[in-house]
This record gives sequence, structure tokens and C-alpha cells, in this order.
Amino acid sequence: MLNFQGEHILSVNQLNRDSIEAIFSVAKKMEPYAKKQKRTKVLEGAVLANLFFEPSTRTRVSFGTAFNLLGGLVRETTGMQSSALAKGESLYDTARVISSYADAVAMRHPDAHSVAEFATGSTVPVINGGDGPNEHPTQALLDLLTIEKELSRFERKIDGMHIALVGDLKYGRTVHSLSKLLCHYKDVKFTLVSPDGLEMPDYILDAVTNSGHQIELVNQMEGNLAADIVYQTRIQEERFPSQEEANKYRGGFKISQAIYDAHCKPSSVLMHPLPRDSRGDANELDNDLNHNDNLAIFRQVQNGVIARMALFALTLGVENLVDKYETEVPWYSAKKNS
Ligand code: CP
Repeated sequence: MLNFQGEHILSVNQLNRDSIEAIFSVAKKMEPYAKKQKRTKVLEGAVLANLFFEPSTRTRVSFGTAFNLLGGLVRETTGMQSSALAKGESLYDTARVISSYADAVAMRHPDAHSVAEFATGSTVPVINGGDGPNEHPTQALLDLLTIEKELSRFERKIDGMHIALVGDLKYGRTVHSLSKLLCHYKDVKFTLVSPDGLEMPDYILDAVTNSGHQIELVNQMEGNLAADIVYQTRIQEERFPSQEEANKYRGGFKISQAIYDAHCKPSSVLMHPLPRDSRGDANELDNDLNHNDNLAIFRQVQNGVIARMALFALTLGVENLVDKYETEVPWYSAKKNS
């Protein structure tokens, strides 16, 4: 199992089942703080450098929120042009500088392996918030935590489940990282639903097959969505060689309530890493699903905060001190009873 304190979290390859379960155990203890039922000041005085060199809403804000909920401070930079990287500074030098200011770093960058390169110069833990088409390990952890929690509503477990991964499986880094984490579980059935040309890369297929899981590859949704978990992805337009190429796939796979009723099980849980592309011609996860109880996309987002709180607590070595630094929440919060 990973000895988390002081470690960088760069790839799901660092995690085995014990490490995953350790993270989930700490994450579940974070729920009262995320719901504002209690506060903790365990990271009071600590500083997070939240460096996002590629667009993000959820990952950036939830990393910052997670650190704030533990009592820490957040310093943020967004976009390449607002950083000295635009003047030719190396990732190594940037890391040497930033880690002299901060106690932890969360980072997203458009290039594969860039966060690992940055980490070589960092003296404080660096957590990968997405490195180009390569990995998104914290998304995979929050997705897996969501799967575990959602399946428990139906008294099911991850071992033995059936998951359908749908859409852009070539460039969608979240499905790459999630598939690798699922290799630590038993007897998972994968249905990979992607248009021709956007199939899951071979190295992921090999890892899944070598774990003893069953895989079927199909190129249409009809008849292929009767899974416990249906995980839809966005066409990752920004990673295509040209917009023209990406446009060929836009709107190819749209899940609506009618598709759900016709092709999913009544208990199929719908997930998406978000953002969902809601433009009319894409509409990949229709708004008419918003009141479907099995649409888990906004619960996924909440699980992102507690998963990231757990990673900060573990890498900074305070996972057993959180309640020691607890205080009251004096203000009204609608979240308290959620
Ligand atoms: N899921 C995800 O990574 O969302 P953002 O791009 O908004 O961070």
C-alpha cells in the first residue's frame, strides 16, 4: 500500500486496492465537513498552490474547496498566459519556485506527463488534476467512490458489476484512469461503446483483459446499455487534430430518458465526468434526465470534494487529526441536512 505522507499523486498506477480503500475510508470521514455539519482547522496555515494551465471548473474549484474545508489557504493561477511558463520558464523551475511558497500543489496541464515532470522539481506533494490525454487520477477515484456508493443503494458491489463506458474512449482520460483502477477488482464486465475511430487504446484493453475481466467492444448504444453503471463521456474536441475531425463525432451518442427507458435497466446508474456537452447538436446526456433518480452526475461532483480532502489529509499526514481540530458551524447551511 502507498505510504501517502509526502508523496506525489500522479497516476492511478501508484494505487492498489488497499490504497484505494484507505482513501475511501478517509473520504467518508470527510462527509460531515463537506456538508458543513462540522468544521476543522487541521490545515490552518497551510497553503495550496492550485495551478490550472488548461480549462477546468470542477477539478479546480473542488481542489480549492477541499483544501479550504480542511482549514487551509489557496493560491491559484489559471491559464498558461498568466504564468511565467509563457516566457519559457521550465516546469522544473516553476516547481522549485512554487513549492517554496506552498505546502501542496494541485495541477492541470495540457501535455501528457507534464505534471510528473513538474513534480521532479517540487519539494511538496503534487496532485495530478489531469495531464492532457494521459490521466486524471482524482477523477478516477471520485468516479470509483461514486460507483461504490451508488451500487450500495442496490446492495451491489464493484466486484461482479457490469459497466458500460460510452463515447470518446480514445481521448477520454477519465475512462482510462477508471479502467485501470477497476483492474484491482474482480469479475467486472466491461461493455465499451464507442464510434469507429474512438475506441479504447490497446494498452488499457490489455490491462483490463489481464485482470481477468470480460470485455465487449461495440459501436452502437442500442441494445448495449443494460449495465449497472452507464458512464457517458464527452467527445474531447480539444484533443483532436482538427475541429473538423471532432465535428464528425459530435452528437453521435446521445442518452435521453427515452434511450434510458428503452435500453438501460431500471436500476442503471448514469454517470459522466462532466462537463456534459449540452449544445443542441451534441446534447450527450439530455436535460430530460435531470430528475431521473439514477442520474448520479451531481453526486459524483460532491464525492470529488471528499476524495480530494482525503488525498490532502493523507499526503500531509493529518488524516487522524481532523476531528481534533474541529469547531462548530455557526451559520445557516442548506447542505447540513443534505
Ligand atoms: N471532470 C472534470 O475534470 O471537470 P473540469 O474540466 O471542469 O475540471
